Amino acid sequence: MAGELRASDIGKRVVLNGWVDGHRDMGGVLFFDVRDRSGKSQCVIRPSTGSAQLYESAKKLRSEFVVSVEGVVQKRESPNSRIPTGEIEIELSYLEVLNESQVPPFEVKEDTTANEDLRLRYRYLDLRRPSLQRNLAVRHKVVKAIRDYYNERGFYEIETPILMKATPEGARDFLVPSRIHPGSFYALPQSPQLYKQVLMISGFDRYFQIARCFRDEDLRADRQPEFTQLDVEMSFPNEDLIYDVMEGALARVWKELGLTLPSPFLQLSYHEAMSRFGSDKPDLRYGLEIQTLTEMVRGKTEFKVFNEVLEKRLGVIGAVVAPGGAAWSRKQIDTLTDLAKVFGAGGLVWIKVNADGYDSSAKKFLSDDLLRDIRSVCGAQTGDLILVVSHPKWERAYTILGALRSELANRLGLLEGKEFEFAPAWITNFPMFEEDEEKGSFTFKHHPFTSPDPQDWARRSEGLQHVRARAYDIVVNGYELGSGSIRIHDRTMQEEVFDLLGHSKEDQLKKFGFILEAFQYGAPPHGGMALGIDRIVMLCCGTENIRDVIAFPKTTSMQSLMDSSPSEVDQYQLKELHLALTK
Ligand code: AMO
Repeated sequence: MAGELRASDIGKRVVLNGWVDGHRDMGGVLFFDVRDRSGKSQCVIRPSTGSAQLYESAKKLRSEFVVSVEGVVQKRESPNSRIPTGEIEIELSYLEVLNESQVPPFEVKEDTTANEDLRLRYRYLDLRRPSLQRNLAVRHKVVKAIRDYYNERGFYEIETPILMKATPEGARDFLVPSRIHPGSFYALPQSPQLYKQVLMISGFDRYFQIARCFRDEDLRADRQPEFTQLDVEMSFPNEDLIYDVMEGALARVWKELGLTLPSPFLQLSYHEAMSRFGSDKPDLRYGLEIQTLTEMVRGKTEFKVFNEVLEKRLGVIGAVVAPGGAAWSRKQIDTLTDLAKVFGAGGLVWIKVNADGYDSSAKKFLSDDLLRDIRSVCGAQTGDLILVVSHPKWERAYTILGALRSELANRLGLLEGKEFEFAPAWITNFPMFEEDEEKGSFTFKHHPFTSPDPQDWARRSEGLQHVRARAYDIVVNGYELGSGSIRIHDRTMQEEVFDLLGHSKEDQLKKFGFILEAFQYGAPPHGGMALGIDRIVMLCCGTENIRDVIAFPKTTSMQSLMDSSPSEVDQYQLKELHLALTK
């Protein structure tokens, strides 16, 4: 391959097939690189050594022509230490143009300045660039390592349908109209959740699948409408077994790629993750931990903003420290206040720890004693800035502090050079339900098939907000890499959960009748998890853009620019599907 030739190959006769990557005429001597997926090698044709015909056809070469060349590997006169094949070149004796290329709309090189839309329109050219070639090679290795790992542990890989009944995972479904059954639709899987549970009932007690999933939801840098999960389910598990199996899979992937993943993973309860890091998917590569001040402030100030929060049972006052932030300008602090407001804060109290005392946006209301206590609890040093947030709802208070924490990390450059440092954690003890205050109803936090904590469930009449789920997530570097749970396997409990979520009996039977029925025929206790393969590959490639690790991704407006999908269809197709478009 073009990228594999080294000084040890000098003297060998080689054949390379690939693309012309830059060509130059240096005083009559012709140079060009041949590129394939492994890299590139320099070819040379001198008027004195090759045939005239060879020389003439080499002169006509242009970038991205497809060629087959033959020649002898020799030492380069002026080596290039920046590329692996920089010590050699190939003196050509044969050149065949297998296909020509038009002038590409952008140069196929690593540091292209072409915008992403243009590159997506000509994705086949973009994919020739070394970083995308490398990313897809990493993706292949990730999937291969996963398959090897689960195979060695006795898991069966079983495919589940793509045309199926809707399974709720919290997003909108993509629907496929049925031609044979007018007015009926398949849904594309948001995940294979229900099928994998049925497989447990069928006795395939260790299942995995590299599963394509489809969700019609708003896109972000780490989301695509179609993506791939490593989907896993086991019968008779407990949480520890699942943690062990899933950590082992990730450890295997990281090892195969020559990367290091700390193990065992840290375990944080949802409450701890929120109250220390302000997020249920915290980036643990840096500190800047949140400090809770609620109790120490109580009774020590007349400050209305704090006291109103202290009156609420779940109100929280918390702080995060910006090292060196006391030197920041008013404008720099104002942008932090604006950020806090975007996340729902009424405002932000700042305290500067100066050498000669304190300065604060709430100096009037905070005594020197209190300021000293706050500083001491926060561990702030002279020159630091303390940012204090108060909110009547604890999760909101911590979410605002979490947003400030990550903004501070960016501002202070705490993540620079840490792309390949990994800080994984399990987040556990999630609440089972989430309250929709506007509607006064409850929705599920994970999915409705998650088992509640048995002790909390026994006390459910005291309030659903106290019921925790047997659910867990893996987070790495601020990404939710995967989530899972121990499932409900009892019809009565499953029906009650549906009742609590507001599904009518009729709706339950219509949507989930098959699984409720299946639970009655010897459903074993079971549980599992799904990891986002795209996100795993993103982490392993050091990129923050999910489109960099998918061969043919969609844009943020859900289009494939290369093949122009989605697109209109012929009238006769609509008719066959019994569909008519409204204006
Ligand atoms: P969940 O919905 O959390 O769980 O999905 C599991 C993981 O899949 C990845 N993921 C995505 N990746 C890219 N683009 C998306 N739009 C997208 N949505 C999700 C994430 C996420 O953590 N059935 C359950 C799993 C289970 O309980 O076993 C499920 O699908 O990395």
